[in-house]
Amino acid sequence: MTGDRDESARRVMEAPVGHPEHAPMARPSRRDLIKGVIASGAAASGAGTLFRASPAVAAPLGQLAARLLTLTVNGQKRRVDVLPQETLVETLRTKLGLTGTKIGCNHGECGACTVLLDDVAVCSCSVLTHRVREARITTIEGLEGPNGELHKVQKAFIAELAPQCGFCTPGQILSAVALLKVNPKATPAEVQRALSGNLCRCGAYNHYLRAVLRAAADV
Ligand code: FES
Ligand code: FES
Repeated sequence: MTGDRDESARRVMEAPVGHPEHAPMARPSRRDLIKGVIASGAAASGAGTLFRASPAVAAPLGQLAARLLTLTVNGQKRRVDVLPQETLVETLRTKLGLTGTKIGCNHGECGACTVLLDDVAVCSCSVLTHRVREARITTIEGLEGPNGELHKVQKAFIAELAPQCGFCTPGQILSAVALLKVNPKATPAEVQRALSGNLCRCGAYNHYLRAVLRAAADV
C-alpha cells in the first residue's frame, strides 16, 4: 500500500502544471462560499470543513438558504439576505453594521440588545428577523436628529453622567424612549419598571433613573 501511495505522489509531483493529476478535490463554488459566510459569522474557521464535505453532508445548507428581505431600519429601507433562524440583533450588527445594539446574554435576559419595533422596546436577540419585515425598527443610531443632534433622552443621560462602561446604555436609552413616547410624565416607579429589563453590570441604576426623569421633565 505504501508503495502505491508513493507511486501516486511521485506521479503528481512529476506531472506538469495543468495535468489531470493536479485536479483538486471538489472545490466550492462562489454560491457555496456566500451561503457559508451567511450561515455563520465565524465562517472562516469552519469553512475548510464545510466546503470539503460530501454532497450528502452539505445538503442541509440548501434548507438554510438566505432570503432577501427589505427591512425598515431607522427610517430607511434596507435590503439584506436573512437566514430563516437569524435573529434581529445578528442582522443589525453583522449585516447592517449597526453595532450600537449590543449582545449581552443573547437569550432575552439582559436588555443590552433592546431596539424599538413600532416604538415598542423589545430584545432583538429574541426576535427572528423574518418576523419584523412589516415593522419600523429603530436602533440607537436612529435616534439622531436630522442635523446629527442627540435625542433629549441621550442628552439627559449625559447630563446625569449615567453611562459607566456604557455597554448597557443603548438598551437603557431605547427602553426610556419607548416609555416616554407613551408616558411622557412617567413617575420614578414607572421608570424603574420600564427599565427593569435592562441590566447594568456597573450598577448605575440610580444614574439612569435620574436621567430618564430629567428627560421627562424636559418634555
Ligand atoms: S442580549 Fe438580548 S436580552 Fe441580553
Ligand atoms: S454602564 Fe456598564 S453595564 Fe451599564
